Amino acid sequence: MRVLVSGGAGYIGSHTVLALVAAGHDVVVVDDFSNSKPTVIGRLESLSGAHVPVHSFDLTDADKTERLFAHEQIDAVIHFAGFKAVGESVTRPLAYYRNNLESTFSLVDAMNRHGVTRFVFSSSATVYGEKAPVPYREDYENLSSSSPYGQTKVMVERVLSDVAHISEGWKVALLRYFNPVGAHPSGRIGEDPQGVPNNLMPFIAQVAVGRRERLTVFGDDYPTADGTCERDYLHVEDLAAGHVAALEHLDDMAEPARAFNLGTGTGTSVLELLRAFERAVGRELPYEVGPRRAGDLPAFWADPTRANTELGWHATRTIDDMCADTWRWQSANPHGFPDA
Ligand code: WQD
Repeated sequence: MRVLVSGGAGYIGSHTVLALVAAGHDVVVVDDFSNSKPTVIGRLESLSGAHVPVHSFDLTDADKTERLFAHEQIDAVIHFAGFKAVGESVTRPLAYYRNNLESTFSLVDAMNRHGVTRFVFSSSATVYGEKAPVPYREDYENLSSSSPYGQTKVMVERVLSDVAHISEGWKVALLRYFNPVGAHPSGRIGEDPQGVPNNLMPFIAQVAVGRRERLTVFGDDYPTADGTCERDYLHVEDLAAGHVAALEHLDDMAEPARAFNLGTGTGTSVLELLRAFERAVGRELPYEVGPRRAGDLPAFWADPTRANTELGWHATRTIDDMCADTWRWQSANPHGFPDA
């Protein structure tokens, strides 16, 4: 299939582009490079050996989105593009609702005008909110998130599900990611957050490479085995494979829209991840324990049974693989992707 990958220059989007090409699909990337760098594309082309056409514009521009669909033959859409910083979304709620919803509306309108009926959406475990029993299961109905970012994911899932149910032939997979980490084993692409990393793994990696002085562990008094929060960390290569599996499953999917957890089903604590990264680097890394971060839940992980049985997808990489691959990327690219 010829797949439009929105946000294809981003962390998960770029790894998915490689997985799609490796699986024999053609890709077209649309990215406004507001949170990624154009130099990613050259690396994708050298790693894949394929040409990666890129359209650079903001998907909230409905006219430009329409012109893309008129210009390119598209069979399916994988939609990553969106604002994704939880903390920032609290301070800029309207920007998050406008961007994450309007970009989806533009895509859906253009798809309807051009007869494209296959959609894979980058959703998040954050839609389960604070009350869902752990492990999280897709049939949990009271979806809600404490952040505007998470609420955009809840809303877009509902928009796509409603559209799919009334649109002839539509099939939509809603992929709920847990905690994506790691990097392509080549070390040529990886996570490159702009500014101070919000997330644990890139922060640890930047400490290891000398860009940050030490890690602050946000609380060690949680009701967990070692007192630090537990999360379901998922290798980005497994996550990319999950997108290909979902895309290729759409034709066989009975329902017009269906959610799938993409996770390992295992929780790992902050300190356990730090120790694993120390094993990858071969030395201890400096850290201090600080206050809890507002909004953090003690522990959650996926029930991945539905993706395992219906998509034939399983997470295969270990925590040590995630840390080794992250370190190979970070040590080879201490300051991330070059600007030009
Ligand atoms: C993991 C744990 C922190 C940084 C977020 C989003 C979620 C998804 C994935 C988009 C927590 C602790 C972190 C640090 C720390 N993103 N931590 N020191 O919060 O589980 O999920 O990213 O979809 O929507 O909410 O991931 O990596 O930020 O934190 O101690 O410097 O690491 O307290 O317990 P989180 P995270």
